[in-house]
Amino acid sequence: MRPNLLILGGTSDATALAGAVARAGFTATLSLAGRVDHPIKSPLPQRIGGFGGAQGLAAYLAEHEVTHLIDATHPFAAQMSRNAITAAEAAGVPLVALTRPAWRAEAADHWIHVPDMSAAVAALDGPAQRIFLAIGRQQLTLFADQPQHHYVLRLVDPPTAPLPLPDCEAIVSRGPFALGDDLQLLKDHRIDCVVSKNSGGSGAYAKIAAARALSLPVVMVDRPELPERLEMSSVEEVRDWVHQATTLRGV
Ligand SMILES: NC(=O)c1ccc[n+]([C@@H]2O[C@H](COP(=O)([O-])OP(=O)(O)OC[C@H]3O[C@@H](n4cnc5c(N)ncnc54)[C@H](OP(=O)(O)O)[C@@H]3O)[C@@H](O)[C@H]2O)c1
Repeated sequence: MRPNLLILGGTSDATALAGAVARAGFTATLSLAGRVDHPIKSPLPQRIGGFGGAQGLAAYLAEHEVTHLIDATHPFAAQMSRNAITAAEAAGVPLVALTRPAWRAEAADHWIHVPDMSAAVAALDGPAQRIFLAIGRQQLTLFADQPQHHYVLRLVDPPTAPLPLPDCEAIVSRGPFALGDDLQLLKDHRIDCVVSKNSGGSGAYAKIAAARALSLPVVMVDRPELPERLEMSSVEEVRDWVHQATTLRGV
């Protein structure tokens, strides 16, 4: 049986991996949740939408004779990552996660570490400020608990429904973002505080460096914890793992 990879994507890392895998000549499919209107084009065939939980993913792995599962989802896509661990075990398919190291605060940073998005909301208790909320759109509603602030949101797609915050504006823009642009954005919008997930990687880091340059506080949401799994931090490592696993298993 030839190797047949399933890559769980939705990140720039997954896009890069899809390119490397296609160049290496592997048979592979890229899976996307379907959250953005216009996903970046991939040289691999794509499937879009959920599998129906861990059980659904395990059934997909068996039905499509997937030989290797690669979780290249965002570090905050914890449900998908947990499902991948359970499904890979159930289906007897080797799993590797392509992850990015978390960002670490530098001496000049003013980070307020919080364990999750609800704690980020609680950390904004206090007088009205201008907040840059670069967290995607899924958890915006939580911030309605702190309605005193003016929120500047950055979204990949134009909003299709009214935004859930009483005083906010949306900037529609897709990363990677550059330091100069994010510096200008924070200045133009007279931002007092940035809220960010600790996504790691370079594409979303500009706002963190910009906040540092302007001595602004960052409410930094820690990553969700996941069960132990095999993790690699570069596309090359994952590609080599597939080569090696293919040889060892005789796939
Ligand atoms: N969370 C973030 O901050 C963030 C940022 C940038 C990009 N993304 C990307 O956006 C997607 C959704 O993120 P999320 O935080 O909503 O994930 P999540 O909460 O972990 O996933 C919720 C459900 O969405 C489906 N799903 C998620 N990723 C999928 C994939 N790659 N292929 C097929 N189904 C998928 C699964 O549905 P079923 O249970 O039905 O299988 C999963 O249980 C992920 O692919 C992620 O890489 C997320």
